[in-house]
Amino acid sequence: MHLLITGGAGFIGCNFVRHVLAEREDWRVRVLDKLTYAGSLDNLADVMDDPRFEFMHGDICDREMAEAAMDGVDAVVHLAAESHVDRSIISAEAAVQTNFVGSFRIFEAARAAGTGRVLHVSTDEVYGACFGDPFEEDDPLTPRNPYSATKAGADRLAHSYYITYDMPVVIARPSNNYGPWQYPEKLIPFFTWRALNDEHLPVYGDGMQIRDWLHVEDHCRALLLLLEEGEAGEAYNVHGDNERPNMETIRLILDELGKPESLIRHVEDRPGHDVRYAMDATKIRALGWEPQIEWEQGIRKSVRWFAEHVDWMRSSVARGKAYFDEWYAGR
Ligand code: NAD
Ligand code: DAU
Repeated sequence: MHLLITGGAGFIGCNFVRHVLAEREDWRVRVLDKLTYAGSLDNLADVMDDPRFEFMHGDICDREMAEAAMDGVDAVVHLAAESHVDRSIISAEAAVQTNFVGSFRIFEAARAAGTGRVLHVSTDEVYGACFGDPFEEDDPLTPRNPYSATKAGADRLAHSYYITYDMPVVIARPSNNYGPWQYPEKLIPFFTWRALNDEHLPVYGDGMQIRDWLHVEDHCRALLLLLEEGEAGEAYNVHGDNERPNMETIRLILDELGKPESLIRHVEDRPGHDVRYAMDATKIRALGWEPQIEWEQGIRKSVRWFAEHVDWMRSSVARGKAYFDEWYAGR
């Protein structure tokens, strides 16, 4: 198997590259990544010399680059995206380009090359906020922020390629991931970094919004399973079965670091903040998958990982300085 992974220098991507190389010894992996602020070759340093691994630096929005990356591959796992909701609120431009137009380029290149399998990584955010029973795969998509709207567009575009062109597309809809290598703009690494520096933690609104946290290693097992055994044309929810209000998550971070709760500061809310994400994952569970990493152990270990990788955290935060200055001004 020769596998293309887009966005492989990002958080989930670099974990998935390692997972595939460890679990499938005879596979070759090619990564296509633009190395935006969120991606770094540091994230892939330990696999760069692996003869089964190849890195291509490029933009999925570039048609020729997408075609070149698809050359000779049997399957693609499409992870590349502008992944941060708050950035998409400041400007939707990059999210529209990469998440929608870039996904189109990847699907087109796969169609032209006759690629055997396309696993498109969508998100639970495409369903919008959940006020009742956890969402099932056939529920309507009602995204409510620019990021999730572009992801919903790509999700349906992927499906349309299955319906229209019979392209073998499988769609994963994962919940909030956490774990090593997550870029420190996302809640858990960002608050860990702030607390380590004794800076206040800017909690949006009352902090009672609920997220369903999924450890990235559990997610990687799900992606490999869906790549190999997911049914073409189908979408699969991938949940953590682990709904937590943000305040509970934040208190665990502080407790693990031995920092005081006085660092918590309630600030102006994110516009259009989805109060809860929740999904039913019966469909992927029927394939034999379930999340295995226990939450409290998982988050404490992740927080320690961030605390032990101070140089990586510092350089990652430095790449996002303009964004942090703009978004958190007054928060
Ligand atoms: P990330 O921001 O950590 O990494 C994104 C990667 O994509 C980076 O390496 C970046 O350089 C690359 N990239 C961005 N634009 C590109 C472009 N135009 N061309 C090529 N490469 C580009 O994101 P992540 O958290 O690892 O998320 C990966 C995927 O999973 C995304 O599609 C995201 O929507 C989805 N997802 C993430 C989560 C989560 O909790 N992190 C949950 C559900 C779904
Ligand atoms: O649900 C899946 C999605 O999870 C993915 O599709 C996205 O790529 C990923 O970024 C993530 O989106 P969220 O918006 O849920 O993640 P984030 O880490 O930004 O925020 C988690 C919660 O914490 C959310 O309720 C907002 C809150 N928060 C976040 C930050 C960064 C704060 O209260 N303060 C903050 O400074």
